[in-house]
Amino acid sequence: MAERPYIVGNWKMNGTRAMLSEARAIDRAAQRYMKVEVALAPPYTLIHAVHREAEQIGIGAQDCHPGEEGAHTGDICATMLSDAGAKFVILGHSERRQDHGESNELINAKIESALEGGLRVILCCGETLDTRDAGEAESFVLGQLKASLPSIEDPAERLTIAYEPIWAIGTGRTATVDDVVAMHASIRRLLDETYGAETSAAVRILYGGSVKPENAREILSAPEVGGALVGGASLSAESFLGIVVAASEAEDA
Ligand code: PGA
Repeated sequence: MAERPYIVGNWKMNGTRAMLSEARAIDRAAQRYMKVEVALAPPYTLIHAVHREAEQIGIGAQDCHPGEEGAHTGDICATMLSDAGAKFVILGHSERRQDHGESNELINAKIESALEGGLRVILCCGETLDTRDAGEAESFVLGQLKASLPSIEDPAERLTIAYEPIWAIGTGRTATVDDVVAMHASIRRLLDETYGAETSAAVRILYGGSVKPENAREILSAPEVGGALVGGASLSAESFLGIVVAASEAEDA
């Protein structure tokens, strides 16, 4: 089953209320590209405000705590995100793994908790350049996924995978299309084994890492690339919408 391409902007630790006009512009323009599912993950502080602005796009968060409400200073749990208007959460991003020492086990606990709280999940995976150069990219990424995929029966509606080679994030370097296709094919096989081919067919596998309007069309046209997770280029409506347009054109081709 071919799902709509999913283009998700990850604003990371960027954005004050001055950025709401960008979110509004993205939302209004997204209404012209209904073949593409467009979403934004602003910082926590803007989730509710962006949610109030948005008529078309999905709003999500960039992390959540694995537990329920309680004594965890500075943390936010899934039900609080839902309450603020989030419909999904990005989990296991390499910056969380690096900056906060997040393990696959913790990420798995966060995923289970987010799903329980009614959020959809975008689970990120990806290798370092050293791991790729050692020829271990595939086994590393599949290992991350095996240790963190949730035990659910209906992943189609609730789970998206984002393959983001760490060396391509924010560096201007993108993986070659052949490398992306090979990795996405391996991830697809793992999803088939884990959930059954029929059920997992609708789980999209996004690519992330220096996606821009200029390279989006080629990446998004590749087999098994179900969309993109976009960092830097999602911070302006103009560049983010360039990627949405490329996704729409790739869909038409
Ligand atoms: P980038 O970030 O597009 O700035 O490379 C992608 C990501 O980290 O999700």
